[in-house]
Amino acid sequence: MNSPRDHHPARLRRSVLCVPADNTRALTKVATLSCDAVIYDLEDAVLPDNKVLARETLAAHLAGERRSDLEIVVRINSLGSGFGEADLAAVLDMAPDAVLVPKVESPQDIQAVADVLSESDAPDRLRLWAMIETPRGVLNAAAIAETGRTRGGRLDCFVPGLNDLRKETGVPALPGRTYLVPWLMQILLAARGSGLDIIDAVFNDFRDAAGFEAECRQGRAMGFDGKMLIHPAQIGPANTHFGVEQGAVAEARAIIHAFALAENADKAVINLNGLMVERLHLEQALRLAARADAIQRKGTNA
Ligand code: COA
Ligand code: MG
Repeated sequence: MNSPRDHHPARLRRSVLCVPADNTRALTKVATLSCDAVIYDLEDAVLPDNKVLARETLAAHLAGERRSDLEIVVRINSLGSGFGEADLAAVLDMAPDAVLVPKVESPQDIQAVADVLSESDAPDRLRLWAMIETPRGVLNAAAIAETGRTRGGRLDCFVPGLNDLRKETGVPALPGRTYLVPWLMQILLAARGSGLDIIDAVFNDFRDAAGFEAECRQGRAMGFDGKMLIHPAQIGPANTHFGVEQGAVAEARAIIHAFALAENADKAVINLNGLMVERLHLEQALRLAARADAIQRKGTNA
């Protein structure tokens, strides 16, 4: 039972909302929203002239009351940008759950941030997320993901960034993301190979509900854990599509029940109503049941 995905089997990251750190109206709105995680953005959603103000506004916002059921992530500017060092210093006082590093292209980009955190005695529970959004980032995704397996590596989650990747490669935004899917799957495989979570990229046209749902269905079928969002209207559908189906939960509970029977205690494979079920299916079933319980506790199965 030592699958690389077992490190936090029931963590919910179905809906991960981006909030520009200098948008006070949006910051205030977060308290009313049912997303699983928020990425407070100091990077591309904030103009260079506003970076300092955005940092201060976010620090003040996070000093207020926080919801315990919301994972808090802060996207900093990259260390080479001229803003990243000060962002990182400010983030330490904000005490988020994770820091999202943009435009990660090599293991060193993650290691450099991890080193600063360790030198600053940041607690081990402060994790790193990485945006994979450049051609070099995609090509090096497996090596970047590997840093999550090293001691003190902190890496926990990948987020592909398709707006940047389209800009860098010239691949246009087509329905179905046809020519981007191979790269998305490559990034996903790299994440899973090192036991990382992975969140699907944003869908820009936030008024196109049908298009968004189609992309959620696609992302779910591709294996993503959730979706990065830009607008509150996208939260409900993301919670639904990256949630659990009741039929699948019932099946999982039947598998757990069957393997708990004394007669199956020393069997590797059993016959469950005509279906071959192995212990690996039990692992999957336990993970799904834990996820269903977490969703029920949260009260947002959408
Ligand atoms: N987080 C929290 N609240 C948000 C929000 C967000 N990302 N986007 C919109 N809202 C709020 C608005 O403040 C408004 O609140 P109100 O009810 O108090 O008036 C409400 O939701 C409706 O917003 P709407 O008028 O439909 O959109 P908008 O014009 O205010 O904002 C965007 C549209 C695209 C500018 C905005 O959604 C946004 O900035 N999204 C995030 C962009 C981002 O982070 N990009 C970088 C990562 S890809
Ligand atoms: Mg980007």
